[in-house]
Formats: sequence, C-alpha cells, structure tokens
Amino acid sequence: MNILLQGDCREHLPNYRGQIDTIITDPVWPNAPAGMFPDVPDPQQLLAETLALTDARRLVIVLRSDSDPRFLQAVPARYPFFRTQHLTYAMPGYIGRKLGGDEIAYCFGEPLPAAKGRMVIPGQGPIAQPDDRKANGHPCSRPLVHMRWLVKWWSLPGEVVCDPFMGSGTTIIAAHEMNRQYIGMEINPTYFNIAQQRLAMSHATPQLLAEEPHEQPALIEPTRRSRGKKSPTRTDE
Ligand SMILES: C[S@@+](CC[C@H](N)C(=O)[O-])C[C@H]1O[C@@H](n2cnc3c(N)ncnc32)[C@H](O)[C@@H]1O
Repeated sequence: MNILLQGDCREHLPNYRGQIDTIITDPVWPNAPAGMFPDVPDPQQLLAETLALTDARRLVIVLRSDSDPRFLQAVPARYPFFRTQHLTYAMPGYIGRKLGGDEIAYCFGEPLPAAKGRMVIPGQGPIAQPDDRKANGHPCSRPLVHMRWLVKWWSLPGEVVCDPFMGSGTTIIAAHEMNRQYIGMEINPTYFNIAQQRLAMSHATPQLLAEEPHEQPALIEPTRRSRGKKSPTRTDE
C-alpha cells in the first residue's frame, strides 16, 4: 500500500483502520506563526480529532523545542508515553531573537522489538546540516535526515507508516527510501502537489538506503575498572 491522499485527514483516516503500523507526523504546532495555517484555528483540537480516528500501534509527534508539550494532551490515553528524542541542527534557526529551534519527537505506544543494533533506543537523532532541508515551497518542511531516522527507530521494513499532516511529504519520502509502505495525507492542494513531485523524484532515484543495515554496535574500550570483565559495554548509537 503506497498512497497519497489530498483532503482532510479526518475524512481519510477512518478508511485505514487496522492497516497503519506507525504514525510519524509533524502536525500544525500550537506556536505556529500567525497566518501560516489560517484554516487551523485550534491545532490541539485538530490533532485530538485526528488521533481519535486511528488505531496505529505507535505514534511519533514532532514539535519544536519551544512548543508547549501540554499540547500533547491531544494524544489519546490508550497510547502510553514512551520517550522523547531530540532532533538537532548544525545551524539552529531563530526563535524570536534567540538561536534555538531544535525539534523534539514525542514517542508513544510500543517500541519496536529489541534486535541486534536496536537494544537501546537513542535519545539523540543525527544533526541536520543546512543542506538537509532545502526550500521546496512549503513553509516548514522538516529535514529528511531526521525523518529517516525516526522511520528507522519506529517502524520495521515493510510496515505501513502514515503521516496525516504530510505537508511537502518529507516523512513519506523517508518511508519510501527506507523500504516501508506509506500513506500520506495533506489538505492544501499546493503542498500536496509538492509532495507528489518530491515523491515521484524519490521513486525515480535508485534507493541506496532501501535496506537499512543495522549499524554494528560500537564496542567501547573496557576501562581500567572493567578490564578483565567478560563482556564489554555496548552502545546502539
Ligand atoms: C507542519 S506542516 C508539515 C510539514 C511536513 N513535515 C514537511 O516536511 O513538509 C503541517 C501540514 O498539515 C496540513 N494540514 C492542516 N490541516 C490538515 C488536515 N485537516 N488534514 C490534512 N492536512 C492538514 C497543513 O496544510 C500543513 O502542510
């Protein structure tokens, strides 16, 4: 199943009950600049109404580090909170007059089963470089490198990843590149077309990342204290 749907995600989502493994999304934030999404008067209500319609197994919601996390009261109580993951930038943007602008992924539901190279879920994603987020016509697209990393940690190859607020389609492109199935939804026809075009380019490009090799866990040199112990400490990221 690989689908892009234009329109209100609240109309589309009920058609995919029982079919979505993971929702990874960057919804309209509570502190989105005034006028950026004029058709969304209450972002929290929009998120609550949307998530009430899904039975996905896992939810990953991306907000900026200065977005009030009480916004996440929109997440249904049936999803246990798991952890946060930090998505940082080599060149942070401005929040008002101060530098900042990192994002935080709030992760709910069951994590993936543990496996080699996936024993510890890391709290820090890759640092996005300026080139990782090129202007594409959407006012707030996210870096592909961050969304790929979230796809990797929150879904397995072959599973269905959905972004009900896909904007220019970054999550969906990441899912495609990482050999997941995808369902993307976007209400704005201009942004929907951008997502379609970006995804078509991604489909036309050989997928060098298709099979994600789990990184070999780095072996930490035993310290003086632990030298002589049987097994060295492992880290997953
Ligand atoms: C923060 S943006 C997502 C940006 C995206 N992560 C990207 O990389 O381009 C949120 C998107 O949700 C869309 N949106 C708002 N209300 C919606 C609704 N009811 N159904 C579907 N999409 C909606 C907006 O038009 C906007 O493009």
